[in-house]
Amino acid sequence: MTAVLLIHGFPFDHLLWRHQLAALSRWRCIAPDLPGAGTSPGFDSPDAYSMSSYATFLVGILDQLKVRQAVICGLSMGGYIAFELLRRFPERVRAAILCNTKAAADSPEAKRGRDALAAKAQDEGARAVAAELVPKVIARATRERQPDVVKEVTEMIARQPVPGIVGALRALRERPDSTPLLAAIRVPVLVVAGDDDQIAPAAGMQELARTIPGARFALVPDAGHVAPLEQPITVSSALSDFLAKL
Ligand code: MLT
Repeated sequence: MTAVLLIHGFPFDHLLWRHQLAALSRWRCIAPDLPGAGTSPGFDSPDAYSMSSYATFLVGILDQLKVRQAVICGLSMGGYIAFELLRRFPERVRAAILCNTKAAADSPEAKRGRDALAAKAQDEGARAVAAELVPKVIARATRERQPDVVKEVTEMIARQPVPGIVGALRALRERPDSTPLLAAIRVPVLVVAGDDDQIAPAAGMQELARTIPGARFALVPDAGHVAPLEQPITVSSALSDFLAKL
């Protein structure tokens, strides 16, 4: 049975994929909490957080489960980790699904934003991080029509451990530019974008799909940056169509 490794983004946990875990039961879905997120213990020190150490952690899970190859499906930071897996462990990747993500590294301004958010997390806690991020990660349509999703995303962020948030922000600010990798990807790829994603805009994701040889592109209407929770049926069917054709 094909294994699908679902990699959540920042600052979320594996429940970001809760609808897909139910909808994709034909496949062997593996959805861990990354170190420092959800119920996973964090790395020992803030300096240990990087896309590379998250990728090594995930390969350790595949090893433990004796999974030789998986379809990797990453959202946003999960996508940055997927790029790392494609760079360092291509033999472990059967195919890739890149949701709400981008290939470029942080600009100097974005890095300053990471530092400011880390300071806020340390001074005011995870709920303050939720207050700052929720308006950015949720589509206008979700805000207007789906208050439960707004609440779910707020609570998910608010329960994340502060050391894991601070460590992830370090990993995000230091992540490499993955643009040079794109044209060299040789596995089937699906790119999934939300039409109202402020963090990974759909136009950029369409360009990402054009740059990866043979990649397919799916645009999810009325979705922001957390499309799998905002429009679960559309996202799950895009994923299952892609998986069924592998
Ligand atoms: C995420 O969802 O993982 C983050 O939005 C990534 C980022 O801020 O670059």
